[in-house]
Amino acid sequence: MALKTKKLSVLILAAGQGTRMKSRWPKVLHPVAGQALLHHVVSSAKGLKPTAVSVIIGHQGQEVQAALGSWDSKISVFWQKRQRGSGDAVRQAASWLKRQGGEVLILCGDTPLLRTETLKSLLVAQRQGGHAVTVLTGAVSDPTGYGRIVRTSDGSLLDRIVEERDASPGIREIREINTGVYCFDVRALLSALPKLRADNAKGEYYLTDVIEILKAAGLSAGACLCSDPEEALGVNRRRDLAQAEKVMRRRIIERWMDEGVTFVDPDSTYVQAGVKIGSDTVIQPGTHLLGQSVLGSGCRVGPFAYLQDCFLADNVQFVASFARQARVGEGVRVGPFSHLREGTVIASGAHVGNFSEIKKSRIGKGSKINHLSYIGDATVGDGVNIGAGTITCNYDGWQKFRTVIGAGSFIGSNVNLVAPVSVGSGSVVGAGSTITKSVPAGALALERAPQVIKKGWAKKRRAEKENH
Ligand code: UD1
Ligand code: MG
Repeated sequence: MALKTKKLSVLILAAGQGTRMKSRWPKVLHPVAGQALLHHVVSSAKGLKPTAVSVIIGHQGQEVQAALGSWDSKISVFWQKRQRGSGDAVRQAASWLKRQGGEVLILCGDTPLLRTETLKSLLVAQRQGGHAVTVLTGAVSDPTGYGRIVRTSDGSLLDRIVEERDASPGIREIREINTGVYCFDVRALLSALPKLRADNAKGEYYLTDVIEILKAAGLSAGACLCSDPEEALGVNRRRDLAQAEKVMRRRIIERWMDEGVTFVDPDSTYVQAGVKIGSDTVIQPGTHLLGQSVLGSGCRVGPFAYLQDCFLADNVQFVASFARQARVGEGVRVGPFSHLREGTVIASGAHVGNFSEIKKSRIGKGSKINHLSYIGDATVGDGVNIGAGTITCNYDGWQKFRTVIGAGSFIGSNVNLVAPVSVGSGSVVGAGSTITKSVPAGALALERAPQVIKKGWAKKRRAEKENH
């Protein structure tokens, strides 16, 4: 059956204080899998391609508004100065709703697990039933804290929603709950909003009371049961936040497994929503893939890898190491125990090993920094060997300076390169040198006190000490 589609707009309620979180931050900005609760809701709603999205803000609204602006500048906001309930929140957008007409999908900013597919099924139920409103419901094992769904006697339609505080013991037994997601015919909604009364246990204007008002006006209300009860989770407390994180993390990992990525132990692997991973990459336990990190295919990552906002090309090996805002080329080997900091760029085939730290530096193709080094503010050419314990002395206490190391040069162990300094291509720097002047290409630079040998000295000394 072809269903007549009406103009669809989306309204998200996010003005509440979220008292139960006991937080100094707005509840809807608490992250799940690296993205704010509200961001997840906005993303799912945008999957429906609505004509407009608006958010009701209030408590710490400035912060919420700033976050929304950074995700999508087209989202408009309406202020609810005093939080007098979800129905009062919707009233703040009444004139906008009037202009939009058609249908409106109303969501709460604290339900991050709802999928676009589920919202679509709610729209279909509303259109097929020809209802004034259809509520998305969930069947849960523990309905504590949620509004309960009371159906009509034959069970097919919605009679009313009763908030837990106002519910009789019998109604509290009901396990079908209100997810806080509704599809309304806008005209019907606008006709009911002025009739809301705050005559309930909380003294608030409940959006859920609109159902009874519409029914009294002879209109019908539908209930659409969400097939996956997990999606209904509304985050009100920290334990809900942890639960949402767990579900979201499992979903993300399952999605990448379906795309051909191996996770040796999904339960001990943390992948945030913005991450992308190529096929045939193997993720070992204890790995964190965060922010907007992008991993190529054929990589081996972990155990114990931490990558935040990094780019890894194909076939990279990244073992037990920490990287933030770094770009790593094809076939590079990192770790164990390396630290790549912001602005690190490593070209293909290079190796970075144990206890080496790199910051704001470019490392050329096939170069090796295998042990105990600090390379900061440097440009290292292709095919350079950096010996164990090499340090770029980039900071004089006031300013940072650059070090340039030309292609094919060899830096011996335990060398200090006091920046600003350059080492020409193909040159050799002797172990233990402190280099303060630039080294021409092809030269040997050595800075060491001449070695002294005193034949028999040790033997004589030992004899003196031991005969006393
Ligand atoms: C609400 C529903 C409940 C449902 C549950 C689902 C009502 C009366 N109850 O309860 O039936 O089972 O969600 O998670 O709606 N808000 C405002 N302004 C206000 C009050 C709330 O914008 O004055 C916003 C909040 O930011 C939140 C949403 O409305 O995003 C719901 O408020 P919340 O306090 O979380 O309601 P619940 O008690 O969870
Ligand atoms: Mg809630």
